[in-house]
Parts: sequence; structure tokens; C-alpha cells
Amino acid sequence: DRKIKIAPSILSADFANFGQEIQAIEAQGADWVHVDVMDGHFVPNLTFGPQAVKSFRPHVKTVMDVHLMIAPVDPYIDAYADAGADVLTAHIEAGPHIHRTLQAIRAADMKAGVALNPGTPAEAIEHLLDLTDLVCVMTVNPGFGGQKFIDMTAKVRRLRTMIGDRPIHIEIDGGVDPTTAPLLSAAGADVLVAGSAVFRGGSVSQPEIYGENIKNI
Ligand code: DX5
Ligand code: ZN
Repeated sequence: DRKIKIAPSILSADFANFGQEIQAIEAQGADWVHVDVMDGHFVPNLTFGPQAVKSFRPHVKTVMDVHLMIAPVDPYIDAYADAGADVLTAHIEAGPHIHRTLQAIRAADMKAGVALNPGTPAEAIEHLLDLTDLVCVMTVNPGFGGQKFIDMTAKVRRLRTMIGDRPIHIEIDGGVDPTTAPLLSAAGADVLVAGSAVFRGGSVSQPEIYGENIKNI
């Protein structure tokens, strides 16, 4: 049985305090650190760019999982490689040449992820599986933390069958909490991103709340 990884999204952290927030979630059991990059164009919100992500790198001892909600992607791939991303995920909806994007991410020595908005079917990535290390299934419309979960368990099941024996992660992003997480892992997901469900109630001075929240997912 598959070990489920929890990837807290620092979108729900204190933006004045990223270094300590990252150290706190890792000390409290985070498996990966999920970094949401938004450009105010592909999604209706803005977060941070490659220079900020590079400044997070020394604090991340696990895996820095960078989710790009930007368009275009290709001009920024080298900047995120230089920033130290381990996994770099681009949306299939972000441009006409996802094949080229995934090749470029791997060529820059990162794991290549492809993200699917809720309206995009599993079949959209059928011809990309040999170029992909991670499929990110969005269970909210990307842009904000704390939104209502959109059930994509049927899509996850379909992807798991399509992936077969390939060593590809299925990551879920949006509305993951103690109620939705078991359905998602049963459907075949192995990486669960969680923002509000990890950070709620805690702080860097009360990090044990993060730990309880992580355990409860
Ligand atoms: C959504 C982001 C998510 C988000 C998840 O646009 O990609 O990573 O922060 O937040 P929660 O877990 O609060 O739904
Ligand atoms: Zn994300």
C-alpha cells in the first residue's frame, strides 16, 4: 500500500516569515514543501517569482515542489532551475506546447509535472506520460487557498489506470482535508497538497498545531 506524502502549501503561511514557516512544517512532518507561483494572468492572484523561490531553497530540506500558475512558462524554466526547484509543474492549459515545456523542464534537471484544471479531462495527458514525473489534479479552480473541494476522484482513478507501472506521482491540489484525503488516496493519489488544512490554528510559535493538522490528514 502506497505511502501518502503531505505537501503543505506555503500559500497559507505567513508571507512575512517564509523561512521559519518552512522549517516549522518540515519539523512537524511535512514530506514535501509546495510552492504556489501565480502571475495575475493565468490565475487571478499574484504570489512570488523565482527570486523569492530561490530564497526559500536553503530552508527546504525535503523536496521543493513548485507549482507554476503562470503563462507563458517556457521563458522562466531556467530561472526556476536556478532557484533550486526539485519538481516543476506547469499547467497543460497554460500554452499550446506542453510537450516542449515538459522536455525543457527535464532538460534543466528537474522532475516534470503537469497540472490539470478541474475542467480538463484525464485523456488530455495520455500522450505525455513518458515525459511526466507527476500529474497534479486540481480539485479547485487555481488561484486561492481555502476554496471548496471539487470532487475529481473519477479522474484520479482513470489516471492511475492510464499510468499503469510508470513511476508517476498523482498529486491533488485544493480542498484537501481529513474528509477528502481518504477518498483521494483510495482513488490512487500519493501526494496531497494542503494549505488551509495544515496552517489553520497554528503559527511558528505554535508549530505543534501544524503537526496535529498534518497527522489528521
Ligand atoms: C490553489 C493552489 C493550492 C492551494 C491549496 O490555487 O494551487 O496549492 O493553496 O489550498 P487549500 O488546501 O487551502 O485548498
Ligand atoms: Zn498548488
